[in-house]
Amino acid sequence: MGLSIAHVGCGAMGSALLKGWLTLPDTKERFANFWVIAPHREKVEPFLKDHRVGWMSSPEHLPQTPDLILFAVKPYHLAEILPHYKAFETLFIFVASGKPLSFYEAYLSPSSPLVRAMPNTPLSIHQGAIAFLSKASLSPQNKQRVENCFRGMGFSFWVNSDDELDKVTALTGSGPAYVFYMIEAFAQAAKALGFSKETSLQMAISTFEGASTYAEQSNQSPESLRTQVTSPQGTTAEAIKVLERGDLYHLMEEAVKAAYKRAKELAHEEKNI
Ligand SMILES: NC(=O)c1ccc[n+]([C@@H]2O[C@H](COP(=O)([O-])OP(=O)(O)OC[C@H]3O[C@@H](n4cnc5c(N)ncnc54)[C@H](OP(=O)(O)O)[C@@H]3O)[C@@H](O)[C@H]2O)c1
Repeated sequence: MGLSIAHVGCGAMGSALLKGWLTLPDTKERFANFWVIAPHREKVEPFLKDHRVGWMSSPEHLPQTPDLILFAVKPYHLAEILPHYKAFETLFIFVASGKPLSFYEAYLSPSSPLVRAMPNTPLSIHQGAIAFLSKASLSPQNKQRVENCFRGMGFSFWVNSDDELDKVTALTGSGPAYVFYMIEAFAQAAKALGFSKETSLQMAISTFEGASTYAEQSNQSPESLRTQVTSPQGTTAEAIKVLERGDLYHLMEEAVKAAYKRAKELAHEEKNI
């Protein structure tokens, strides 16, 4: 019998996870039900054609206690939503940025196992990354359940502290946005050389996609792959000189540190942003 999952919140991250789960090759064996709890039915509508997906506006309408309850709502909504889940004694997973495990403990039943996770949206196409954090008391069965849930959706791993998960937030959690930004910049550069918007975007996407897959399949480091295509005094070398002048390494480090700092701030923030 597959898992039944209550899925609280179906925005960018919630719908990415749901899409990822529903499209796994063995989804029907692994998942029996997805009960999406969200304020607006219309946002869940595209998923409702799968007979395993149901929508409800509040947890009182759940037909039974789910095997797992996953929260994908904004961090500032949690304090208002969590008290409605105190009666459920089941495995909880939270994907909100910043809030430490202790934050959730204050709202939920002490016998409920809690897992904090940091996913990213490419999990929807099974090429994502997700990190998990729990207390040492999480049973091996529940640990296995969490791992099974995300098997086949990308790179998954456990971390040892809230601080480490905040660092993951700044890396793979926010990381797809950094890559989208670079794709935008590359496409903009192609447009500046006179290519159409469509061709520019295709050139940018195919270059990033091809280079990432090539790096993944190669047994060489990205640095070595870069050096191989950068002949001294050649065209690529001229471009790399410009990127080095802009100190891309330093810029990326600063960007990741800024996101990490912001994750720490979110731990204490209640306001609507
Ligand atoms: N987006 C990412 O790439 C990403 C990556 C890693 C982690 N996260 C984390 O994922 C969480 C969700 O982010 P998001 O980007 O998906 O935000 P989002 O697009 O704004 O989605 C949040 C969803 O929560 C719903 N919601 C609001 N009140 C609710 C309630 N009382 N019960 C159930 N659902 C409720 C909203 O519904 P309505 O819109 O209908 O009001 C909305 O669909 C955040 O905590 C974020 O830190 C996001």
